[in-house]
Formats: sequence, structure tokens, C-alpha cells
Amino acid sequence: MTAMPIYPAHIESLKPYVPGLPISDLAARFGFEENEIVKLASNENPLGASPKALAALAKAAIDISRYPDSDCAFLVKAIAQFHDISPEWVVVGAGSESVLGNVAATILEGGRKSAHSAYSFQAYVNAAKRLGAVPIVVPSPGLKVDLDGLGRALGENPSLVYIANPGNPTGTVVEPDELVSFLSDVPPHVVVILDEAYFEFMSPQLRGDSIHWAKRFPNLVVLRTFSKAYGLAGLRVGYGIAQPALAGMLRRVRSPFTVTHTAQVAAIAALGDQEFLSRTIEMNNRVRRVLVKGLTDLGVQILDSNTNFVLARVGQGAALSRELEKHGLIVRPVDSYGLPEWVRISVGTQREVERLLQAMHVELAT
Ligand SMILES: Cc1ncc(COP(=O)(O)O)c(C=O)c1O
Repeated sequence: MTAMPIYPAHIESLKPYVPGLPISDLAARFGFEENEIVKLASNENPLGASPKALAALAKAAIDISRYPDSDCAFLVKAIAQFHDISPEWVVVGAGSESVLGNVAATILEGGRKSAHSAYSFQAYVNAAKRLGAVPIVVPSPGLKVDLDGLGRALGENPSLVYIANPGNPTGTVVEPDELVSFLSDVPPHVVVILDEAYFEFMSPQLRGDSIHWAKRFPNLVVLRTFSKAYGLAGLRVGYGIAQPALAGMLRRVRSPFTVTHTAQVAAIAALGDQEFLSRTIEMNNRVRRVLVKGLTDLGVQILDSNTNFVLARVGQGAALSRELEKHGLIVRPVDSYGLPEWVRISVGTQREVERLLQAMHVELAT
């Protein structure tokens, strides 16, 4: 009798997610103090989190012996009010990655397909593969989402399409009119995830009214996160917005209690602190200009970014990242995305970016 394999083939085919190197790892490896290290690898907020969110978090910590509200009722209400929609449209999760996994689990199964552009966020592949579904990867000329290519891929009958706008690790955007025209062509039985993890960093002229699109297209889920501009990456909170029929199905599938009480309370306070958000965007835009100019002066090719990071073509991304680690600097090699010549650099504070540029000047000259 032939033994059954322990793991299904589609599970064996998974590759672990490659995160940015943790500060503690690098400190231990080279004997740095943690506060000497500059991490520009995970697109986190260099200003930290809103002081209002931190105060709410400290107050809520007293309640950690209790289960959180599984439905996140107050947070859902705050998000709904913020977007001027009713609460049935909102689904919350432990980071937008968890919401996208939830959408995939609702829509995909063995034998079904998903589609996304090459050089997209790594989680899209695993979210499909772990369900036995097959990801279709559409070529991405110029490292921009090719909506015509994705449109052609609809001919292969995917059940789920992911579009990140802006994209990660590319930072590039698609124009709102092109997106609407694409969404109009998607058949109603195909669900589209519009992943807007970096929405707040987009220049206002390029932002589309994605909440309005969710009202127009019953097969659309718009994803947002508190991890990036709101500075709550460590708490893990994100959300999806979709019409109540689709959102209701997502709620059936989501695991209970995934968003902690402290995360819910801090996210409500963060959403209420739009002044902190404005400061974040202002600083990001200013320091991104310093980073872009510095890289250009070093002769490094970069992609136009509408995010809090810049993709830079440095020759050998992994090798340069290793050299920068010796300076106490963490950037993100993107060979795991199929871009071995590039590194992704998050926009930090001006001082952090200047330190990085100095080290790159040394390393690229040798
Ligand atoms: C494009 C994109 N989508 C989603 C996420 C997930 O973010 P989170 O789970 O922290 O909300 C990320 C994180 O890097 C991302 O880059």
C-alpha cells in the first residue's frame, strides 16, 4: 500500500513570507545597540504612532484578561462613519493581509484561479496556493500593473483578481479612469480585491474614489490598513469595504477574536487623529524628495513612487543590503519578488535617510 503524503502538494509548494530583517536580529549579529539601527525595510511610520492612539492603548491594556469584541463593533462603526457608509459594509481583520486571506478563503478552492500582476505583494500567491488554487501571474512591463494584461487574463476564468494601488514593492500607480474601465469589464462572478495599503500616500490627483467604486461594483473589496500611514503595524489592524452581501460572506469565514481589544481601541483613536496623519504625509513627501534626489545623485535608477518607499536599482540588491547591514542599516532586498537588481527603501526621518545615503555613497563607490 502506498503511503499517503503527510502534506498536500499545494502546501508543500508554499514559500514562507520573507519579512524585513528585525532590528533585534541585526543588533545581535553585529553587536549594535537597537537604537543605533535604522530600519527602512518594512514601510513603517518613522513618526511612530499617533499620541492619541498610544494613550488609548495604554488605557485599554488593563482589559487584556478579557476576550476582545469579536465583531469589533466600535471600530467598525468608526470606520463606517469615516467613510460615510453603513457598518455592514466593513470587515475588520488582523492587518489587511488577514482580510485579503479571508477574501481568498471565501472565494477560492482547489481548481479555482486567482490573477495578479507580476511584482505584486507576496501574500497574493500564498493566499491562493494554500487553498489549492492556482495563481495566474500577469507580466508587468515597466513594473506597472498592466490592466490590459489583467483584462486578457480574465479569459482564463480567475475567480479572484488582486490589484494593489499603489503597488508594493514597485510603488507605482494606475490611473483612476483606467481602474474604473477595468472594473466595468470584470464579470460579476469574479471578485476583485483593490489593495490600497498605501492609499494615504498617493498624491490627491491620482486618488480614485474607491469607496464609491465599492458602491458601484458588487464584486469589489477595497482594502485599507492601519499599519502604514497610521503607524500601527505592530498592532495588526486592517479592513475591507464591500457591499453587504459580499461583506456578510467574509464575516462568515473570518476567524473570531483576531483583532485584539487594544488594537481596536488604538485604531479608533488613530482614525480620530487626522492631524497626525497629515503630519505623516507631509514628512513622507518631504523626506521622499530627499531620498529620491540623493539616489538620483548617486546615479541609481528609481521608480516614481506614490508611497512611503522607493524601489531603487542598485545592481545586486541582496549584496548591497548585506553591506548596509554592517552600517546598522536595514533595507529590503526584493529578489524574492523576482527583482534581484533592486532594493526597496522605506522613507524614514530625514536623518535616517541621510545616514543611508552616506552609506550607499561608500558602498556603491567600492
Ligand atoms: C500592498 C500591501 N498590501 C497589504 C499589506 C499588508 O499590510 P497589513 O497586513 O500590515 O495591513 C502590505 C504590507 O506590507 C502591502 O504592502
